[in-house]
Amino acid sequence: MVALPAMGVEGIPERGGRSTVVVDLVAARRGRQAGGAARNPDGRAVDPGADSGRLRVAVIGTGFGGAVHVPALAQMAETEVVAVCARREERARTVAAAHGIPLATADYRALVRDPGVDAVIVATPPYLHHPMCLAALEAGKHVLCEKPMARNLAEARDMVKMAERMGVVAMVNHEYRFTPARARAKQLIDEGYLGDPHAATLTVFRSSLADPHGRPFGWLMQQDKAGGMLGATGSHHVDALRWWFGEIKSVAGAVGTMVKKRRLPGAAGMATVDADDNFALLLRFANGALGTIHVCATAPGNSGEEIMLAGSEGMLMLHGDERLVGCRRGEGEIAELPLPEEEPDAEAAATHFLAKPVTALLGEWVRAIRTGAPASPSFADGAKVQEVLDGVLRSGTQGRWIELGVGRFPAAGPTRL
Ligand SMILES: NC(=O)c1ccc[n+]([C@@H]2O[C@H](COP(=O)([O-])OP(=O)(O)OC[C@H]3O[C@@H](n4cnc5c(N)ncnc54)[C@H](OP(=O)(O)O)[C@@H]3O)[C@@H](O)[C@H]2O)c1
Repeated sequence: MVALPAMGVEGIPERGGRSTVVVDLVAARRGRQAGGAARNPDGRAVDPGADSGRLRVAVIGTGFGGAVHVPALAQMAETEVVAVCARREERARTVAAAHGIPLATADYRALVRDPGVDAVIVATPPYLHHPMCLAALEAGKHVLCEKPMARNLAEARDMVKMAERMGVVAMVNHEYRFTPARARAKQLIDEGYLGDPHAATLTVFRSSLADPHGRPFGWLMQQDKAGGMLGATGSHHVDALRWWFGEIKSVAGAVGTMVKKRRLPGAAGMATVDADDNFALLLRFANGALGTIHVCATAPGNSGEEIMLAGSEGMLMLHGDERLVGCRRGEGEIAELPLPEEEPDAEAAATHFLAKPVTALLGEWVRAIRTGAPASPSFADGAKVQEVLDGVLRSGTQGRWIELGVGRFPAAGPTRL
């Protein structure tokens, strides 16, 4: 299907009115009735796609958004992708054409206000998450935001508050929670396999940023675009340890940039990198347990991801996302722990190695929108992760432990872990 012309910013009326965008979407959807996000008496947004049975989703960002979110949503029975947005409209058009999406645009502000959109995925570089999520939330849309949630805690807190105020379902895409080994580890920990948590460590040495002539310069290498590996992967790792071990009380850490120049995309010459490609941090959990996370993205080879969790009664180890081993005190040697049988999904496997966990997280998001059930990882979870990331940077410059959750304005209220 050919993408429709981009929508202009001009002439966009207040919510519920009709704009060029609305006309485009409505026409493209062959007359389906468009409706704004109406509200239940309790303030939670009503799903306006309920009549059609499918949630109408717009995806902003065609990198990970185009490669993973769009195909995942396209194969889910409960969702349809009604629009895709990129900075360059032709990028959006390419993804729209490949997936039969009726609207391609470069104007996210108009898109999020369109009454033909029920929910928005924000999959753009992190420095854009705050303005884009706020715009979507303000328009009453459910939001799924990519990680890291924001540039800093102040932005994240803002997003939490706006989502609460609008009564919509707002989640952060920490999809690793939905990989079989990690989900099983969570189940075992909740059942008491570890006993009292004592220690957690996560180490990844990889080569993704080792070669200055390999991956070109981009937002990931720029501090002012909220690039850096601490945000890009550290956010996932902090989320995992917090999910398994509970709230984090204090943090100490440091970041470093080992590869300081990187080739410019499509041009001769090198750009200066100021975002981190290495980081190491120490965590003290509220229950007294200690944790470490050490990531090197400039190693000559790939070690895989190694996670060890120990408690008073047991120990678990995750090797990548495929293997879980463990032992219980006095019950023999470390042994393989069976994971639930997974249905083979050739389509997901062919799309991206994260297609399955992302689909599972999207399923949680849609279920929460439909039923009003709580969903995690929520914006509140994302803000608590963000507080840890901010703490690492402060600790690195100030040379001390940083206490979290103190002061009059906590990152977010209590969450269900
Ligand atoms: N959950 C995960 O496991 C996972 C994995 C990878 C990435 N991510 C996250 O996904 C986000 C995007 O990363 P990426 O790797 O996909 O980056 P990317 O390849 O650089 O793609 C960024 C996308 O954002 C679009 N964009 C930039 N500015 C925009 C604007 N003003 N309006 C509309 N669209 C705009 C870009 O448009 P153009 O193409 O026209 O420039 C592009 O489509 C990041 O937060 C990243 O951390 C998450």
